[in-house]
Amino acid sequence: MNTILTSLKGKDLLTLVDLSSEEIHHLLTLASELKQKQLSKEAYKPLTGKTLAMIFEKPSTRTRVSFEVGMAQLGGHALYLNSNDLQLGRGETIADTARVLSQYVDAIMIRTFAHSKIEELAQYASVPVINGLTDDDHPCQALADLLTIYEVKKKLKGIKLVYVGDGNNVAHALMIAAAKVGMDCVVACPVGYEPKGEYVNAALLAAEQTGATVKVTHDPVEAVQDADVIYTDVWTSMGQEQESKQRLAVFQPFQVNEQLVEQAKEDYMFLHCLPAHRGEEVTAGVIDSTHSYVFEQAGNRLHVQKAILTSLLS
Ligand code: CP
Ligand code: NVA
Repeated sequence: MNTILTSLKGKDLLTLVDLSSEEIHHLLTLASELKQKQLSKEAYKPLTGKTLAMIFEKPSTRTRVSFEVGMAQLGGHALYLNSNDLQLGRGETIADTARVLSQYVDAIMIRTFAHSKIEELAQYASVPVINGLTDDDHPCQALADLLTIYEVKKKLKGIKLVYVGDGNNVAHALMIAAAKVGMDCVVACPVGYEPKGEYVNAALLAAEQTGATVKVTHDPVEAVQDADVIYTDVWTSMGQEQESKQRLAVFQPFQVNEQLVEQAKEDYMFLHCLPAHRGEEVTAGVIDSTHSYVFEQAGNRLHVQKAILTSLLS
């Protein structure tokens, strides 16, 4: 397999801001190759004898299962570690946890709250650290999103991607991913729920290199005009449960429904990182329509995780 890029070996994957466009394209190509191998039942076990520790401070279905199955398919082993069952949950520091786990395992994946926590983990770990979602970022998700768009649209450059909803972790990662591959990205969100300035600026900087455009607006109808891809995510992310009532009201005009998608291109595709709340951020009529690729998207998490693991570890 000649698409393994040595520049990623031994590195952390905390945010796509740190990856070059070339590295992103290589991960996507490798993910496609690994997907083909899996579909043709060809065994490929470059991670035999390697172990991935997976720390979860928030729930997960897709990230947990795709990393665990991915490690198994690559010949390695994954450990599911719920933070409440670790000494981390009783006050052992993240720095000590990083140094201890580095004695046993070959990489650490973590899903946590503050992004600064994963940065601290990466600082103290001597093995690669992978972001399985923080309050600010979700890089593995965005890579799977790019792969799904590429499979359907056969290109990334010049595609118009419109994210409608909360300027959250998923929106941040998508903006960076889109800008780095030359996709035009519009984020339509309520006032006060914009993506963080540091992510917008990083996306704008990346877009300068690729010719992409990046825009944040508060008008969802105008945003989705001629969209190739419409993407949304939950209105209340994990850790924000106390705001959910207020968010339900604020985000109502940003629901992706049959009326809104009429503004998009006829062959638009709908994406959602999942889990979805039908009747809130998206109607069943949209997410369960033939325009929706959310299950292919979820499936691609597996192939992308395998590409990430192979690139960082083999
Ligand atoms: N999209 C995603 O990360 O799903 P999980 O929360 O189930 O891992
Ligand atoms: N924004 C969501 C994504 C879930 C995969 C959250 O953080 O809860």
